Amino acid sequence: MGLIKGGINEVIATTAFNAAPIGIHYRDKTASMIIFSGSHTAKNVERDGWVVANLVHDPVLYVRTAFEDLPRDAFVEEPVAGRTMYRLSGAGAWVAFTATVERKTNDAMMVRLTQEKEIIEEVAVYPVNRGFNSIIDATVHATRYRATRDPVLKGWIDYHAGIVRKCGGKKELEALELLMGYISG
Ligand SMILES: Cc1cc2nc3c(=O)[nH]c(=O)nc-3n(C[C@H](O)[C@H](O)[C@H](O)COP(=O)(O)O)c2cc1C
Repeated sequence: MGLIKGGINEVIATTAFNAAPIGIHYRDKTASMIIFSGSHTAKNVERDGWVVANLVHDPVLYVRTAFEDLPRDAFVEEPVAGRTMYRLSGAGAWVAFTATVERKTNDAMMVRLTQEKEIIEEVAVYPVNRGFNSIIDATVHATRYRATRDPVLKGWIDYHAGIVRKCGGKKELEALELLMGYISG
């Protein structure tokens, strides 16, 4: 098994000068993703047929890429399988895929991923931190909350914010402040 593990891998997906957190599903030796319509990622994957999964351990980057665009110098060009792909300059590791849209509805598309290349840029080990994990959870809920203002989602965000305050380090607390700013108002 390579860098992508069984289950859902919450990576930062890069397409042409765009980055967003996306879940890469890996089951029965098959990698895929479900992308909801309307995002830049959906448009780019459909147009270009590739995506790079960036393995990152920076909670601020998860929040930023969920809600805003990164500058061009955040991306590094990589030649892969005869194409030019882009990964994040801050990626600890990355996996490049050819992406084929298998099914499309009004709401989402199912994309099959074929791995072309994987590289480890830097080796680092991180202890499990509930604050980091809760940033990821809170950000998932926050991307939906921003569109729906559903109070149930706000309840989940507040629950995870409590864990971040209790268990997170400096980076998690910075990410939480950023997150709360994106959903306020
Ligand atoms: C941890 C995490 C996982 C996510 N997984 C997905 C996913 O699998 N599919 C999807 O369409 N959106 C997913 N999202 C939401 C997108 O990141 C969000 O809609 C983002 O704004 C899309 O950005 P873009 O328009 O630059 O592509 C996820 C968000 C987070 C925080």
